Amino acid sequence: EAIEKGGYEHFMLKEINEQPRSIADCMRGRLDANNGRLVLGGLRDYMNKFQNADRIIITACGTSWHAGLVAEYLFEEFARIPVEVEYASEFRYRNPVISEKDFVIAISQSGETADTLAAIELAKSKGATIFGVCNVVGSSIARATHAGSYTHAGPEIGVASTKAFTAQISVLTMMALKLGYQRGTLSENRYMQLLSELETIPSKVEKALQLNDKIKEIAAKFKDARNFLYLGRGYNFPVALEGALKLKEISYIHAEGYPAAEMKHGPIALIDEEMPVVFIATKDSSYEKVVSNIQEVKARKGKIIAVVTEGDTTVKQMADYVIEIPETEEAFVPLISVIPLQQLSYHIAVMRGCNVDQPRNLAKSVTVE
Ligand code: AGP
Repeated sequence: EAIEKGGYEHFMLKEINEQPRSIADCMRGRLDANNGRLVLGGLRDYMNKFQNADRIIITACGTSWHAGLVAEYLFEEFARIPVEVEYASEFRYRNPVISEKDFVIAISQSGETADTLAAIELAKSKGATIFGVCNVVGSSIARATHAGSYTHAGPEIGVASTKAFTAQISVLTMMALKLGYQRGTLSENRYMQLLSELETIPSKVEKALQLNDKIKEIAAKFKDARNFLYLGRGYNFPVALEGALKLKEISYIHAEGYPAAEMKHGPIALIDEEMPVVFIATKDSSYEKVVSNIQEVKARKGKIIAVVTEGDTTVKQMADYVIEIPETEEAFVPLISVIPLQQLSYHIAVMRGCNVDQPRNLAKSVTVE
């Protein structure tokens, strides 16, 4: 086991640090920005169906569902097809409206999640096309779908999903760009620009990982907190959910993720000097609005930890702790902004003496409903 951990204390830490490579592996042979090439083998025979779909339905559980939420923003922005993101456990039992014109994407690291598998069977019985985004080759979900693209993240042992999440988003990003280009909703110029930027992501993730020591210091300050709030907007809203889930799973601290603007509809009542609030406040189209949310928390003496874009000065003046990550296209930010949140939950859990790789009550794949 020590050898498998490659010198790291835990599988989770190893997997967090593998992300520059796992994302690159996921893109290898598929993306070649210099030549404007983007090929997803699994999609080839189904591109017509995908392009002409009335609606995309994404179904998954847990972290994979969060990747699905990121994909909702990606598909709607780049390809202008309406998207619904469904918890597999709800979808399978609520007699959903599904037709042959729907393109269903099932996302699963393990490919064995019982609810996701049942959701696939249901959609299949209604005539929809089902596309899988799985990590485990030859898994039940990979076999049950009509076609799919593997995430190629390599085996993920830690129960808390990290590198599988960023690989899922990488595949879904490539799908969205391809779809947008084919449908003509993305111009050739913009498409080329986005492909080039996507290629830089592994090195930017590498850079984000170097913040580890700083995050460890922040973890030491907050390891005894009883609650945490995670807030973000747009592409960073699913990242807020994912940050909160990571912390809950491995440190047993109660945490909630919210779209930042929803704060005033309830969670703001929780804010006092005891409440750490993690803002994902990168420079994007909702930046100014998130800054006002930060002010609202500050006015109520909440402790602010902010993930910002390198060079940010505004948030720096307001936050108690800032984590600066490299700049990228707004749509690609989740691939980088989730990294410090994974590290924060990891360090807090270690400092609390928790079993990081095998948290209580949790299984790596949930094969029962
Ligand atoms: C993630 O950290 C969790 N352990 C869990 O939410 C997981 O993502 C969920 O059970 C779905 O698993 P899958 O991707 O293997 O289908």
